[in-house]
Formats: sequence, structure tokens, C-alpha cells
Amino acid sequence: MSSHERNLLLRDAADRAAAYLAALDERAVGADPDAVARLAKALDQPLPNGPTDAASILTFLDEAASPATVASAGGRYFGFVTGGALPVTLAANVLAGAWDQNCFSYVSSPAIACIEAAALRWLKDVLRLPGGAEGALCTGATMANFTCLAAARNTVLADVGWDVDRDGLFGAPAINVVVGAEAHSTLYKVLSMLGLGRERVVTVPADAEGRMRADALPHLDGPTIVCLQAGNVNSGAFDPAEEIIPWAHAAGAWVHVDGAFGLWALASPALADLVAGYPNADSWGTDAHKWLNVPYDCGVALVRDADALARAMTITGAYLIKSDQRDALNFTPDSSRRARSVEVWAALKSLGRNGLVAMIERNCRQARHLADGLRIAGHDVLNDVVLNQVVVAFGDDAKTNAVISDIQAGGEIWCSGTHWHGRDAMRISVSSWATTDADIERALAAIVATVSRRYGE
Ligand SMILES: Cc1ncc(COP(=O)(O)O)c(C=O)c1O
Repeated sequence: MSSHERNLLLRDAADRAAAYLAALDERAVGADPDAVARLAKALDQPLPNGPTDAASILTFLDEAASPATVASAGGRYFGFVTGGALPVTLAANVLAGAWDQNCFSYVSSPAIACIEAAALRWLKDVLRLPGGAEGALCTGATMANFTCLAAARNTVLADVGWDVDRDGLFGAPAINVVVGAEAHSTLYKVLSMLGLGRERVVTVPADAEGRMRADALPHLDGPTIVCLQAGNVNSGAFDPAEEIIPWAHAAGAWVHVDGAFGLWALASPALADLVAGYPNADSWGTDAHKWLNVPYDCGVALVRDADALARAMTITGAYLIKSDQRDALNFTPDSSRRARSVEVWAALKSLGRNGLVAMIERNCRQARHLADGLRIAGHDVLNDVVLNQVVVAFGDDAKTNAVISDIQAGGEIWCSGTHWHGRDAMRISVSSWATTDADIERALAAIVATVSRRYGE
């Protein structure tokens, strides 16, 4: 391909991407089932023996796949906990794609090593976490929790004289893992991947909002990891860290925080009560692809004891010449990886501290406004809306599920379903920079109209 053809191709990609984003406001939010079916049919072809020209590949992707996508980059997507991508992060992502840096070590990409160091420093600053903590940028909160809990596991066993790195878990002293009754489902997968078992956890009962009950904590003895949750995936509630962390530390336990989206509340002075005590934990996992609004994928693991993270993740190899620089592969579960730090740095630089706080507080205000509107319309808001999450039911489970299906098919907004406190419910998560107050009014009107269309209420 000539450089002229390459330029045309990249400009075409940029034009198509811009047109896609510009059309988001007009299109249905959910994936169009007919477009998905057409795409699947079009893809049902044998691998070609010969080449296909690049421009026609891009045309195919745009014409066949763009209409089949979920419009989660727009302001009216409230499914799961999904951030959009700030424009500067998308642009930075394109540039970083051109760089195609492998950022496993300093020498493999000195530029990305510098950007990653700056991004991690700003993350700790904006989240008010200890400046000496070490970090890793990984795929998401699942792997961020894995990274932190690997450091936790190795450390609590090292404290009783067991080298899990060398000897594995066979014959190791048992580790008590304490979780709340509403710990996120991915945390159990992480525990299983770490050999700690999904089912041998000690479960602390939760209160009505899904918070660990500080009055029901177990007696602790021996190597222990306590997993707190900052942001219940349904209610958005926070475990009471101020009470739990001193209790856990008094028993020598490691405290980890799963703050996939809730950890971002640490940036906001207005949410200080919610996050009280959280900076005192030993490790924190979060997602930048949620509330920092960078493109997928990007999780962040931070560990107070930098050596603990390094001990769990360091590798050596003949071709990996030791340097006196920070080599990222000694802190992450992966080795070769993409330059996630570019988008993290770009997001923090473009928002600034105040911009990040404003985005978080705006989304929280929007969630409260939605909840108030739903209550006024007579619907059951099931949670105390302390953050960006609203859980709402529309009568019995059958009615609620019918409304969720109608809303998803209607295209005006998209929300996911959940099961909470014995009831099926709809979850609304307001997590995007792109969500305007007008989008919230549209969402409210769409929900109220959908219920009354179906049930005449
Ligand atoms: C509390 C919590 N933990 C972990 C996760 C997993 O995050 P990811 O899908 O980015 O790995 C989520 C996702 O919503 C979450 O809400």
C-alpha cells in the first residue's frame, strides 16, 4: 500500500467514525436485530485465499457492522455500568494505534513508560490514594481485582512464612477470604483463578442496600483477606470502610477494595461521606472504561505496598534485560499489551481534577433526578440513590420484565434488567460524559410512556 493510499484509508476511517458518532443522537440505542442478522449472514463466508483491498474492508465494516452496534457511546445508554469515550480519548486511541507500541517494558516503549508513570501518578492524586502505591493498567476491574488479590494472597501467606510464588498453594496455610453477601460476581471468578475458591469464602450478611453489615463481622484468625465493595452494582451503595478497615487491620488482614465504578467517588468532595475510610485499604481495583470514560478496555489496579505487587508479578527471562527503569510487566499480569495509559492520561488532562469531579457529580445528580421522576410517576424505586445507580420495578416480575423488553426494543434508551432483593427490576446506570440533562428527560419520558402504553397506567 502506498502512503497516499494509507492516508486516504485513515481519513476514510476518521470520517466514518465521526459520522457514526454524529448519528448516535438520532438512532435507536439498542442493536437493531435485523442489522445483526444481516451482519451475521454477511460474515458467513469462508476465509478468502487471496487479499481484499483495505478500503472495501472498511466500507464493509461500516456499512454492515455500524448499524448492528449498540449505541453505548451515546448519551442515552444506561445499561450495565458503561462509560462513553471522551472525544480526546478516542482521538488519542487512534494515534496510539498508529504508534502500535508494545509497552511491557521501558525499553520496548520509553514513551509509553513515561506516559504510564504520569497517568498512574495522576490517578492516585485524583483518587486521593497514597502516592507510594504501585499500579497496573489491565483489561478491566476483573483483572484489576485479580492483580491486587494476587499481591494480597502472596503477602498474607508470606507473613506466615509461606512462599506461594515458589511453592504454590499445595500444603499452604489456609487463607480466610471475607466478602460481603453482595460482592460482585466477577470477584468469585477472581478468587477461583487465584486458587482461593469461590465457595470457601466467609460471607458477611448485607443490609437492605447491599452493604456489608459492620455489626455482623466474623472473628478473624490467621492469614486473611477482606474484600470491600465501593459501589454495589445494583444500588451503588458502599461497604462501611470506616468501620471495617480498622477491624480488619487490627487482625493483620489485607483489605482490598473492588471499586469498579464506585472508586471514582473518591475524587468528589461532595461524596466524601460515602467513601470515608477507603484510602486506608491495602489495594484498590477500578475501571477507567467506566467512569473515567476512556475507550474499552482499561482497568486500574493500585497496591499500597509497591513491593507486594512487584513480588506477585515480577518475571525474569534471558532476553528481558534488567533495567533500572520501571518495567510495567513487573506489575501487571500481562506482558505484551496495548498503551492504555495514553487514553487515561488524555482523559485526566482534558477534564482536569474539576472536570472529573463535575462529570461524576453531574451523573449522580442525573440519577437522583431520574429516580425522583420515577417515584412521582408512581414507580417503585428500590434503592437509596446515593451514587449513579437507580433500581426500579414496575409491579410484579412479569410486568417489570415486559417493560424492560419494551424499553430495550423501543430504542429511545437502553437499560438492563437485574434481580434484587427477591424481585426482578430494571437497572439504570448513569455513567457517561455524553449524557445531558435533556437525555435524562427523554429517558424519564420514555420509561413513563412505555409503562403506560403497556399497562395504561
Ligand atoms: C463492582 C464490580 N466489580 C467488578 C466488575 C467487573 O468489571 P469488568 O467487567 O470491567 O471486569 C464490575 C462490573 O460492572 C463491577 O460493577
